Amino acid sequence: MTKINIGLIGLGTVGTGVVKVLKDNQDICIKKIAVKNINKKRNIDNLDTNLLTSDPYEIVENPEIDVVVEVIGGTEPAFDLLKRAIKNKKHIVTANKELLAKNGEELFNLANENNVVILYEAAIAGGIPIIMPIKTTLAGNKISKIAAILNGTTNYILTKMEESNVSYADVLEEAQKLGYAEADPTGDVEGFDSAYKIATLATIALNQKVDINKIHTEGITKISADDMKFADELGYKIKLIALAEITKENKVDVRVHPMLVPDSNILSTINDVTNAVLVEGYPVGRVLFAGPGAGEMPTASSVVGDIIAIQRNIDEKDPLPMMKCNHKIKASQLDILHTENKYYISITASNIPGVIGTIGEICGRHHINLASVLQKGVCKENSAQIVVITETCKESDIQNAITELKNNNTIVRINNLIRVME
Ligand code: HSE
Repeated sequence: MTKINIGLIGLGTVGTGVVKVLKDNQDICIKKIAVKNINKKRNIDNLDTNLLTSDPYEIVENPEIDVVVEVIGGTEPAFDLLKRAIKNKKHIVTANKELLAKNGEELFNLANENNVVILYEAAIAGGIPIIMPIKTTLAGNKISKIAAILNGTTNYILTKMEESNVSYADVLEEAQKLGYAEADPTGDVEGFDSAYKIATLATIALNQKVDINKIHTEGITKISADDMKFADELGYKIKLIALAEITKENKVDVRVHPMLVPDSNILSTINDVTNAVLVEGYPVGRVLFAGPGAGEMPTASSVVGDIIAIQRNIDEKDPLPMMKCNHKIKASQLDILHTENKYYISITASNIPGVIGTIGEICGRHHINLASVLQKGVCKENSAQIVVITETCKESDIQNAITELKNNNTIVRINNLIRVME
């Protein structure tokens, strides 16, 4: 079997896992590792420090290196480095979801021109095998929908909020102490990380290029302990869901936002840092992929699997043809205002006769049928806590109704509006 040389760009959590997993591999030799700080102490036994360089271009320009493994994240310098590597005919393995979402098209086209492959199993849902199954085992399917939990940090926070009925802020602080959330958690909690991942997943599953800038993205920061409690009483769990679906009109509906997921849906049972991807297609029906979406060793598992796939095919004239991507069709993406959903609305209203009637009347005028209305008691300031679940209605109608409710003098505030999974 052909032995290959790899160059590793990045020796953080994922890079460290890759070095540990490849330690005794006879066919894959780590030739160079580019790091930010050569003198930093590493959690790797017997690391040969001669391998380290602070110049990643030493890797992408090195004629002895067959595969460049990029695990630094972010768009620059990763984009420029990978372009250089591809032009130098190196195969690529990357865990960089942001780069793929923003610059994937240029990179994949460049890779095709240079007859090299880019593999990225680790970029989406960490240790869960999802890219290769979609591109190979499920290749005979027309995939119509993906509903996924793609971010471990937010799933951990939501699970703990639900289990202990504590606030978002309290759980975030605990998650940061335990290392489950980053010091700056914005990318995770505002949904950007999930949006990067679903952009690429939707592109390959639906066979149409999805534009990251057109993905409606909402995070979990507005979810309260009360929302969790009310959802639970109504038979739902709140999850940050990444959705991608072909509509009846052949539009592509891709978005990331929290959802009330019915207890009967398997995604409601995916807890803590676990990720899950539910794929619907013809002829397979529904398939669920679930497992560790992050972490040193699960992510290294995906990176090393990709490296081995390349090593086993490197002598082919056209290596791994099924894993190639091209972006001939641009998706016609549905604007969130044109979607239809069920909604959960949490309202604080004045505790006066007729207020539920007012809510029903405003919703009715905007063509919104109510499925259930619950008054959750009266608060200290003599206000009523009301929770409404609607039937399926238009997003534009619900937004208009919310504006009108906010302006009505019997409504104290709209606490939250969350979409509900069917
Ligand atoms: N920060 C991500 C998560 C893992 O919390 O799932 C890497 O994409």
